[in-house]
Amino acid sequence: MRITLIGPGRAGLSIAYAAKKAGHEIVTVVARRPEAARRAAEKLGATASVLDRQLEASDLWIVATRDDAILSAAESLAQRLDEGTEAPDMAIHLSGLSSIETLAPLARFGISIGSVHPLQTMPNPEIGQERLRGAWFGITAEPELYDRLAEFAESMGGRPFSIADSAKPTYHAAAAAAANFTLVNLIVAQDLLDAVDIPIEVLGPLMEAIVANAVEIGPRAALTGPVARGDVDTVAAQIAAVADHAPAMLGIFVSNVASLAKIAGRWDQFADLVAEHTS
Ligand SMILES: NC(=O)c1ccc[n+]([C@@H]2O[C@H](COP(=O)([O-])OP(=O)(O)OC[C@H]3O[C@@H](n4cnc5c(N)ncnc54)[C@H](OP(=O)(O)O)[C@@H]3O)[C@@H](O)[C@H]2O)c1
Repeated sequence: MRITLIGPGRAGLSIAYAAKKAGHEIVTVVARRPEAARRAAEKLGATASVLDRQLEASDLWIVATRDDAILSAAESLAQRLDEGTEAPDMAIHLSGLSSIETLAPLARFGISIGSVHPLQTMPNPEIGQERLRGAWFGITAEPELYDRLAEFAESMGGRPFSIADSAKPTYHAAAAAAANFTLVNLIVAQDLLDAVDIPIEVLGPLMEAIVANAVEIGPRAALTGPVARGDVDTVAAQIAAVADHAPAMLGIFVSNVASLAKIAGRWDQFADLVAEHTS
């Protein structure tokens, strides 16, 4: 496919690098700052442009701006179409949260609109492009476009799945819970391990097993440990250690004990211990 990238940020460039590696051609990189467009275009062997200029023809427009700029970017692109830029077949954005309706200004030109959300973290384009291989790609589109976008995701080594437009906020909250909130607990773990001079890497296999078990048998069935067993004395000893060695993390630790006890049906046993440590 011939692709135009609008918004050469972390996700856009990760996808563009992966797409180029998969044999697609990045025709133009469009940014709001000419310098940003030029830098990205050079690396991709593409032409650099800005939003208020006419664009070379391509098959797919990828609007990879921040979520809150998708609609305004689509409106600018619609103006280019009004002025004679050739319409692509398809236009997508990369948000797991925003509705595909944010691209509605383009639909009136007969462009099929959708979204492709790589369910992966792309902190920079170099790491991002590598992480896309094997990642799941949540696609929101009508069936015909879905098939073409699924093929695009597969060409980059991705695994496509379908998300209804109305389901996106719920899906996105789930992704945040799994990815961002998990890091909160790893930060608690890091502070505790630092206090006793143990490197965080020892947690690697344990964390990998937790994730594998959760995906394989479901997170509720994967629950083990003293809260799930109802072992109050052990948890009290853990809380005392946290209070001694990472007091700033005590609130998070105790609130996790409370959440876990409720989920595991052990609240009656842990209510007093939690109350004792909740101010
Ligand atoms: N990064 C991830 O891990 C990840 C994962 C999955 C999905 N996504 C999705 O990918 C999209 C982009 O996220 P990102 O992390 O790549 O953000 P980012 O690194 O901040 O990149 C955003 C890009 O949009 C441009 N931009 C911002 N405001 C604009 C405007 N008003 N008009 C035109 N361009 C504008 C930025 O240009 P400037 O440099 O000029 O600001 C930059 O090129 C979002 O929809 C996000 O939800 C990201």
